[in-house]
Amino acid sequence: MGAAENKVEFSALPRHIGFIMDGNGRWAAKRGLPRSMGHRAGGEALKKTVDACRRIGIPYVTFYAFSTENWKRPAEEVDALMRLFKEYLDEAEKFAGQKARIRFLGDKTPFPDELRCRMTELEKNSAQYTSMTIMLAMNYGGRDDIIYAARRLAALSAEGDIRPEDIDEKTFSGMLYTGSAPDADLIIRSSGEQRLSNFLLWQSAYAELYFTDTLWPDFDEKELKKALESYASRSRRFGGV
Ligand code: IPE
Ligand code: IPE
Ligand code: MG
Repeated sequence: MGAAENKVEFSALPRHIGFIMDGNGRWAAKRGLPRSMGHRAGGEALKKTVDACRRIGIPYVTFYAFSTENWKRPAEEVDALMRLFKEYLDEAEKFAGQKARIRFLGDKTPFPDELRCRMTELEKNSAQYTSMTIMLAMNYGGRDDIIYAARRLAALSAEGDIRPEDIDEKTFSGMLYTGSAPDADLIIRSSGEQRLSNFLLWQSAYAELYFTDTLWPDFDEKELKKALESYASRSRRFGGV
């Protein structure tokens, strides 16, 4: 389906969708499989969702893959996730090959060297693409994002490069991991939990929230379209009338 056809299907489309990909563990447990298999299946759902978003014509997508709090999980699960991230960098490289810009949101420092270098390379090599931006939130936390921005601004101010009174929403936004990307219009969370779990706190100030009981590995284009229909039916007032 072409982007033009979809524009007819939905009266309004979000420019930026954030996905909280939750429920991989429960999906695996239901099948008597290890949690790592749930994460693997979740990776497949991520790939399909990126393709669907591209076809529908969503220019910015952010996927919450690993939170700053997820390090608390058993070492075995964290290790399995790190191995999976390595494999998925190949997939991310394919997306870049299809002219999508790839960005990683979060502090890369704690990741293994090889992973970190490839993440940086991929960001550099895809920076020129503008039709679609795919952001992968890894070691991401909304509070960490805000603290990091505040530190950068404080450093600029200490150097005399910015005056405190010149710090406004636009300069602050620009310092966040999302940089020049627009705020999230729609946040979709799978698995029935209804919370943000430290995802895009600043950027979701006026986002529409959509929750589905579907576990992330079962999330597909049909589910995405249900969320988009819900989004199109909402009246976004941004505090106005
Ligand atoms: C989300 O699935 C993926 C990550 C947090 C990495 P979970 O692993 O949280 O799955 P549940 O919530 O335990 O089912
Ligand atoms: C949020 O899911 C983080 C990701 C999807 C990466 P969690 O499973 O970690 O969130 P909580 O613990 O249920 O809030
Ligand atoms: Mg979870």
